[in-house]
Amino acid sequence: ERKKRVLSGVQPTGALHLGNYLGAIRQWTRNQDQYDNFFVVVDLHAITVPHDRKVLADCTLQTVALYIACGIDPAKSQIFIQSHVKAHAELTWLLNCSTPVGWLHRMIQYKEKAIKQGENVSVGLFDYPVLMAADVLLYQPDLVPVGEDQRQHIELARDIARRYNDMYSKKKRPRTFREPKTLMQTTGARVMSLEDGTNKMSKSAENDHSRINLTDDEATIKRKIKKCKTDSFEGLGFDNPERPECNNLLSIYQLVTNKTKEEVIEECQEMRWGTFKPLLTDALVDHMSPIRARYNELLEDKAYLRSVLKAGYERASEEAEQTLQNVKKDMGF
Ligand code: ADP
Ligand code: NA
Repeated sequence: ERKKRVLSGVQPTGALHLGNYLGAIRQWTRNQDQYDNFFVVVDLHAITVPHDRKVLADCTLQTVALYIACGIDPAKSQIFIQSHVKAHAELTWLLNCSTPVGWLHRMIQYKEKAIKQGENVSVGLFDYPVLMAADVLLYQPDLVPVGEDQRQHIELARDIARRYNDMYSKKKRPRTFREPKTLMQTTGARVMSLEDGTNKMSKSAENDHSRINLTDDEATIKRKIKKCKTDSFEGLGFDNPERPECNNLLSIYQLVTNKTKEEVIEECQEMRWGTFKPLLTDALVDHMSPIRARYNELLEDKAYLRSVLKAGYERASEEAEQTLQNVKKDMGF
């Protein structure tokens, strides 16, 4: 019987942070045995905004090392680089031609990023969601584990698949594209910035103190938590709309300690920030030190990383090519 398939990815645009880890990568590491897994580093997405070629190259390999350091096991999961598999770019063009432009105009992330860039916004940034649909649909996954900010893009990928299937493979069984489901956590799907509790933690925010990177050492984590924004309410608690920072920090604590919400409330409700911050710092350091140590080891072994990528590429390109050939046949090529 076919194992269920999982696919997801991260852009190599900077150091991965706690939001990428808690919202996405940690979910990928769970149940790896149960699924057939594809984890891609989406470098073609990284060039939709102005980029530095050196950062792109370094960051791509660092992201691969971080995937493994976070617990992705190359024996159970395919790890590969998007630009190595040519079918991503090719399917994007084919899907561009069956996707209404109005669907892309509705994408929130595009609107947010485009506002910041004014007239220099690229066609690639606008087309990003179609490239992402191609990334997903090429591998026929059942599940796509992502953070909240990607929900709209996965829904679009489903819409693109359905429209294509209706246009080109109505009578075919199975239809050319499988419509995947989004897999999202209840806590951690949206880790917020440490500067304010209202924007998501992100690689692109200018202030490095707004995020905890997976590569931060103990002293850096300590400094960032010490500086992070809090409030002057009495006690600590979840879900108070007037206390987004508090909710965010307690959620991070809950996730890295693997405690339940009730346990965290019980432990922390009477605390002051001066007691909670060192507790959170220790929990983060305990959880993340092994990841950072493994990451540093892996970066020393580029030959191993390349061998992982080669195996990932072989399997990924085989799967992707099969879907692409079906599409080309459907469309009359
Ligand atoms: P970024 O937005 O930091 O550039 P990516 O766009 O590469 O990250 O996203 C990689 C994965 O990490 C996606 O599944 C995305 O939903 C998830 N993710 C990104 N930021 C956060 C966050 N602050 N909280 C939870 N998940 C996040
Ligand atoms: Na994102």
